[in-house]
Amino acid sequence: MHIRAAAGLWFRGVRRHLGNDQRQQQNTSSKMADTDKKSARDREEIIAISHLNKWFGDFHVLKDINMTVAKGEKVVVCGPSGSGKSTLIRCINRLETHQEGKIFVNGIELTNDVKRIDQVRREVGMLFQNFNLFPHMTVLENLTVSPVWIRKMPLAQARELAFQYLERVKIPDLAHKYPNQCSGGQQQRIAIARCLCMNPKVMLFDEPTSALDPEMIKEVLDVMTDLAKSGMTMICVTHEMGFARTVADRVVFMDGGEIVEENDPENFFTNPQYDRTVTFLSQVIAH
Ligand SMILES: Nc1ncnc2c1ncn2[C@@H]1O[C@H](COP(=O)(O)OP(=O)(O)OP(=O)(O)O)[C@@H](O)[C@H]1O
Ligand SMILES: [Mg+2]
Repeated sequence: MHIRAAAGLWFRGVRRHLGNDQRQQQNTSSKMADTDKKSARDREEIIAISHLNKWFGDFHVLKDINMTVAKGEKVVVCGPSGSGKSTLIRCINRLETHQEGKIFVNGIELTNDVKRIDQVRREVGMLFQNFNLFPHMTVLENLTVSPVWIRKMPLAQARELAFQYLERVKIPDLAHKYPNQCSGGQQQRIAIARCLCMNPKVMLFDEPTSALDPEMIKEVLDVMTDLAKSGMTMICVTHEMGFARTVADRVVFMDGGEIVEENDPENFFTNPQYDRTVTFLSQVIAH
């Protein structure tokens, strides 16, 4: 089924809940409390964010964010433009600094300590909207440079690994091309393969398909779905609601620098608890 058609079905459920915010907010709180208890017992947390606050000058961009991600969990973050999604995930590998609260990645707290930042970045792969491949290097060189220089892997082994991941993203024949000789969808798959060569424990995606032509979106989402099935821990900022519906364990909705609502996809799409979520869903589904 086409993503938008599928989204339309969920939206039918969404509309039923307009105007019931207060009663449902209470339900959500008790549901969340139950989930929290369960999470403390059963989940091995790889990311733990507590009371995170961040300002750009006077602008309070992230407001008391609390969020944990368990090993192997797939979290989709969505929300209106400017709600702080990119800033939040950039804080997780210290591309942005925070002023208040704590962020732990794989047990390491992110502080100004450069050694810790390095340790965290070794475990966290990040995919951006615009691929960020090195334009002067071939695809193969893009994939081998970090394993060789950062992981100190012998070149032959790094090349073998690179081909293994290029196979996995279904473009081994592009190994000797330069990025500008590849399509956007191919470049994003190369960027994913490049991350995987560093054997990350967590992958962060910031709207990885939003710069792509529609026909290339599916090939990238297919690779991401594959990766999710392999057990990778993923946080993905995306408005691809079909992907969220089928792949995410949890959808987090942000607005105005806050986490407004989070839930499993089924409930998030069919039973949103807040008017802000309903409005957002109606907009992403309408366009
Ligand atoms: N370096 C910066 N300095 C000042 N303000 C910033 C900076 N980066 C982001 N902002 C502001 O912080 C807010 C959140 O930005 P952010 O990029 O995190 O939003 P977003 O949810 O990712 O939006 P989008 O969906 O458009 O990508 C926006 O109002 C933005 O203008
Ligand atoms: Mg963004």
